[in-house]
Amino acid sequence: MSASVLSEKISSRTARVGIVGLGYVGLPLAVEYAKAGYAVTGIDLNATKTESVNAGRSYIGDIHDGELGPLVADGKLRATTDFSVIRELDTVNICVPTPLRKTKDPDMSYIVAATQEIAKYFHPGMLIILESTTYPGTTAELVLPMLEKTGLRVGIDFFLCFSPERVDPGNAKFQTKNIPKVVGGTTSECTEVGRLFYSQALEKVIPVSSTQVAEMVKLLENTFRMINIGLVNEIAMMCHGMDINVWEVIEAAATKPFGFMPFYPGPGLGGHCIPIDPFYLSWKSKQNGIEARFIELAGQINGRMPHFVVEKIQNALNDHTKPLRGSKVHIYGVSYKRDIDDVRESPALDIMLLLERRGALISYTDPHVPTLCLDGRELSSSEDFEGTDCVVIVTDHTKFDYAGLVSRAKLIVDTRNALKTFAEPKIVRL
Ligand SMILES: NC(=O)c1ccc[n+]([C@@H]2O[C@H](COP(=O)([O-])OP(=O)(O)OC[C@H]3O[C@@H](n4cnc5c(N)ncnc54)[C@H](O)[C@@H]3O)[C@@H](O)[C@H]2O)c1
Repeated sequence: MSASVLSEKISSRTARVGIVGLGYVGLPLAVEYAKAGYAVTGIDLNATKTESVNAGRSYIGDIHDGELGPLVADGKLRATTDFSVIRELDTVNICVPTPLRKTKDPDMSYIVAATQEIAKYFHPGMLIILESTTYPGTTAELVLPMLEKTGLRVGIDFFLCFSPERVDPGNAKFQTKNIPKVVGGTTSECTEVGRLFYSQALEKVIPVSSTQVAEMVKLLENTFRMINIGLVNEIAMMCHGMDINVWEVIEAAATKPFGFMPFYPGPGLGGHCIPIDPFYLSWKSKQNGIEARFIELAGQINGRMPHFVVEKIQNALNDHTKPLRGSKVHIYGVSYKRDIDDVRESPALDIMLLLERRGALISYTDPHVPTLCLDGRELSSSEDFEGTDCVVIVTDHTKFDYAGLVSRAKLIVDTRNALKTFAEPKIVRL
């Protein structure tokens, strides 16, 4: 089947769209294609998620039941754990996790497992797009050979692309539909089919010349953030040593209308992207004989931040004649960033463990995270911090009542500058 037959199906919205992995990336994408008029099938190994989708219940903060339910009821969106539906599909986007192993090497097992399943039901005329963040070369070196083993030829019998996912959970302004989409194909025909596919449902598509370029785009974006956060965290530690207010410095520097972009210090990196993706790049780069020194250094500095926060807490309590051992410390916000429920790699968890190791008694508040597993124990969110010795703001959710916090807490350590409008002697900033 030629590119023109598949392109015609895509343009006429008769192409049957499949999304493998219905998480933070996959479910919003599935919803966009269903809204654009395609019949969409989501495939996930997790039956709780597929049942939830089929019942019109969303488990992703950015997708509301009122949006999901009608798409399911209209037959535009369904979910299954059964990969054999791929026999009926024209396109498949792979949105499975890409974590790091303990050794900081890429864990490709999810991509491999998903591709193996796709290969079982592969047929001519399909478009396959990898969206999981990964090292440059994954699509060409790992996914392509697995698909070509079926005997089908890329650019002729099927089309293969990589398109980095840039979704920012909790961002009300930029979501799947209006975040520009970069796509690169294995051949120019693949890129063109991929461009056509995304332009049906998303506002802006940026084609690039290869899958490797598209893979590298994502890693540049996230490495840029990780390194600049590392830089500003180091500046924050320098300022601390020199008794300079780093927040005031950044705000004044940000008045420069060109050549400066503000980044802010924080308690450490969190989430499934910024702390992880750059190590995919450094791993690959090492194979080519180039040590990714900026990445390693920023990783060390950012990894030091939870320790720096704990020292701040210890010093702040000391100034109030309290030892950390035996003090009640309440963590305000545990998700890795504002207004979401995701605690993956959250620095709050490191801070809590470090505090416990030094004998502090821990509790937390997070409206988005009602329960939390810490070192094998389950903790529950509690609004009650009146009896605690210190409240530590790790994540500044917009729902929080900071004025109430300032009036009720004995001592506050603010790692996010959320309280910058309140000048109170009992507040210690990072
Ligand atoms: N979360 C983000 O903000 C974000 C942003 C940009 C890019 N990414 C990247 O997108 C990818 C997916 O991330 P996510 O946050 O959506 O992950 P997620 O964990 O929320 O979702 C992944 C889903 O894939 C399913 N899954 C795992 N293995 C599978 C398999 N073999 N077959 C079918 N389903 C399978 C899981 O059950 C899960 O529902 C990752 O590579 C991530 O780095 C994530």
